[in-house]
Amino acid sequence: MMDIELYSSDEMKLVNDVINESIDCGIKIIERVSHHVIDSGGKRIRPAVMLAAYKSLNGKDVKEAVPLAASIELIHTGTLIHDDINDRSAVRRGMPTAHTKFGTSAALLTGDFLFVKAFELLSEYDKEVRDIITQACLSVAVGEIIQSQNITNIHLSEKDYLEIIEQKTASPISASSRAGGVMAGGQAAHHDILEKYGLNLGIGFQIMDDVLDVVGAHKETGKPLGNDLSEGKMTILSIHALNNTNNSKYKFLKSVILNNQNPMEDILEAIDIMKNVGSIDYARDLSVSYGEKARAALEELPRSEMIDKLMLMANFAVDRNH
Ligand code: IPE
Ligand code: IPE
Ligand code: MG
Ligand code: MG
Repeated sequence: MMDIELYSSDEMKLVNDVINESIDCGIKIIERVSHHVIDSGGKRIRPAVMLAAYKSLNGKDVKEAVPLAASIELIHTGTLIHDDINDRSAVRRGMPTAHTKFGTSAALLTGDFLFVKAFELLSEYDKEVRDIITQACLSVAVGEIIQSQNITNIHLSEKDYLEIIEQKTASPISASSRAGGVMAGGQAAHHDILEKYGLNLGIGFQIMDDVLDVVGAHKETGKPLGNDLSEGKMTILSIHALNNTNNSKYKFLKSVILNNQNPMEDILEAIDIMKNVGSIDYARDLSVSYGEKARAALEELPRSEMIDKLMLMANFAVDRNH
C-alpha cells in the first residue's frame, strides 16, 4: 500500500484559497454546509491531476490553472453532496454527510450553489476548456442517473458497470487531465494522451473505491463498510460474485442486494462470500490493470519529473486505503 503527497502543498493551498473565496458568500447556511464538506478533508485528486497535467506540458504559470483546479473541486464537492442524498449515505470523510447534518433542502441547494460558483470560475476560460469541463459534468449526471436506474439490478453486466463508472467518476478525472494540458498549450496529440491517462486512472480509481467499500477500514475511508451492498448498488464485486456462486450463496447475495435493511451480520457474510469466490482479488487486479493503462498512455510523452508525478498518482489511485 502506498501513499503520496498528491501534489505540492503550496499550490494546493492556492486552490483551497480560491475555493474558500467562492464559498464565503455571506449566506450563513451555505457557508456552513460548504465548509463542513470542504474542510473535512478529501484527497483533492482532481485538482492535483489537473495541475500536474498542466505542468507536464510545460504550462508557463501554474496560477493560470489554479481557478480551474478550484472549479473542478467545487464541482466534485457539489457532486458528493448530491450523491450522498441520492445514495442515502449518512457518513463521509468520517463525518455526518451534509444532508444528515443540515437537512436535505440545505444540502441540495448548497450543492447547486457550488455548481454555479464552479461555472463562474470556469467562465473565465477559453471555450475549449469550458467545453471539456461542461461535458464531464453532463457525463456525471448521466452516469448517476443510469446507476440509479440499475439499483438492485442483479443482471447488470460488467460492461454496463464499466460504462457507468466511466461516466460518473472517470469523466471528471479525464477532463481535469485534458483541461490541464489544453491550458498549457502544445500539441492536440498530447492532450489526447492526458485524457486517456485520466480516463484509465479514473476507472481504476472507482473500482478501488468499490473494493474499499468492502475491505476498507472506516477510520481511513471515512465511509461505513458495505454501503454499496446496503444500498443495492451494483459494483464490480457484486457482479463478479453473482457470476461465480452456486445456488444457495447466489440466493443469499441476491437477497442482501435486494433487501434495503440488512443486519450488519448479513452484510459481513455477503462480504465473506465475495472474498471466498475471489471477487476482491478480481476487482483489485482489474483496478491495477487500469492503473497500468494510465501509465502506459503517458509513456508516449517525453519523460519528466511531472510525468513521474502523474505516474505516481496513477499508482495511488489503484493502490490506496482511503
Ligand atoms: C469519492 O471521490 C467519489 C468517487 C468518485 C469514488 P474521492 O475518493 O475523490 O473523494 P474525496 O474527495 O477524496 O473525499
Ligand atoms: C461516486 O460514486 C461517484 C460520484 C459521481 C460522486 P460512489 O457513490 O461510489 O461514491 P462514494 O462511495 O459515495 O464516495
Ligand atoms: Mg455514494
Ligand atoms: Mg463508493
